[in-house]
Amino acid sequence: MDVAIIGGGAAGLFCALTAAQRGRSVRVIEHANRVGKKILMSGGGRCNFTNLHASPDQYLSDNPHFCRSALARYTQWDFIALVDKHGIAWHEKERGQLFCDVSSKLIVKMLLDECSAAGVTIVTNCSTTAIQPDATGYVLQTDAGTCRAQSLVVASGGLSIPKMGASGFGYQLARQFGHTVLPTRAGLVPLTLSGQPLDDLDGLSGLSTDCEVSTESQRFDGPELVTHRGLSGPAILQISSYWQTGHALAVNWLPQAHGASGADWWHAQRDEQPDALPAQALARHLPKRLALRLCELADWNQPLQNCSRAQLQSMGERLTAWPITASGTEGYRTAEVTLGGVDTRELSSRTMESAKQPGLYFIGEVVDVTGWLGGYNFQWAWSSGYAAGQVA
Ligand code: FDA
Repeated sequence: MDVAIIGGGAAGLFCALTAAQRGRSVRVIEHANRVGKKILMSGGGRCNFTNLHASPDQYLSDNPHFCRSALARYTQWDFIALVDKHGIAWHEKERGQLFCDVSSKLIVKMLLDECSAAGVTIVTNCSTTAIQPDATGYVLQTDAGTCRAQSLVVASGGLSIPKMGASGFGYQLARQFGHTVLPTRAGLVPLTLSGQPLDDLDGLSGLSTDCEVSTESQRFDGPELVTHRGLSGPAILQISSYWQTGHALAVNWLPQAHGASGADWWHAQRDEQPDALPAQALARHLPKRLALRLCELADWNQPLQNCSRAQLQSMGERLTAWPITASGTEGYRTAEVTLGGVDTRELSSRTMESAKQPGLYFIGEVVDVTGWLGGYNFQWAWSSGYAAGQVA
């Protein structure tokens, strides 16, 4: 065999079909009972398969320029052309996010059809117990016996959602071959609160509102959802990838007052409805229960006409930069991605090949490249899979 690929997820399947189309004999070794499980459950069953705006700017990595070459050589437009070739109907939901009209099953079927047309062998329910290099490539000990391959592609993903087959095998292999594995943590994940911050949201679980959340280095707008244990929703998932224990978070509850300061907003409310209580004014823009709770917590309880300029100023500042103290995240159990991973400084950005071990490649989520929410992670899987598939 020419190429053995560990992991039949998005990156592994894409690499397999690319290499096989070049005439390479390719085997995908997957330890779960089927391939493409994350694709199937992604995007609420409709797979947000790429993003119209995908560019290196939407990726986190210790080596931010690494993803540039692969993303440029297999772009969102290339993947859209493939989806179109297979007659899969899609739509843009928002912010450039492309989803299947019908089902994510169609994306898996497309990848499997391409693999099958190119002659890829896929083995499921197969664990690899050991891998050693030899003079001609790699010797793999698996449940299905020993096999040899010239090239070895590690596409075993990150640690998120262990129930679906996630394992640390890729990191273990990376270390075995002398690679640095940067510390991993859960990304695109709900945040948890505890103690007073959690009590502050008591009874609001299920409530969702548009807001803007920021850390020191990054800001995202979108829906935020109060959960039983803390906060979730797209804006929170996005910021979670930039947040670490101890970091401050601030919520702007009035993103629609864009440009105007919070103080200007309160002044306008006072001019419009001088008798109103702050909660009444806020409830015209936020869910009522949330408006009441914020005013209760901030002690804003006098009619707007009685509030001084200084009070309105400080109310404005608080409303647009409401401090939130998160205690942690929901962890890998619910995280969409794993941040960190195989250090890209030891890989070729053009081919994903190891700089330490010829014929060894790392692609997809196991690598220290993580995208924002919105189809960016699959685009990285396709692009990095293509990069390795072109040469492995
Ligand atoms: P992936 O995890 O897909 O595949 C790795 C494969 O390796 C798995 O099949 C696993 O079983 C297998 N494996 C692991 N260890 C092994 C071993 N020891 N031996 C053999 N096989 C092994 N992204 C996006 O862009 N749009 C979206 O809509 C979503 N939605 C989404 C929803 C949910 C619930 C999650 C958890 C994640 C998403 N994502 C997403 C993220 C996206 O799924 C993720 O970034 C890609 O699947 C990563 O592709 P990989 O192929 O690298 O890993």
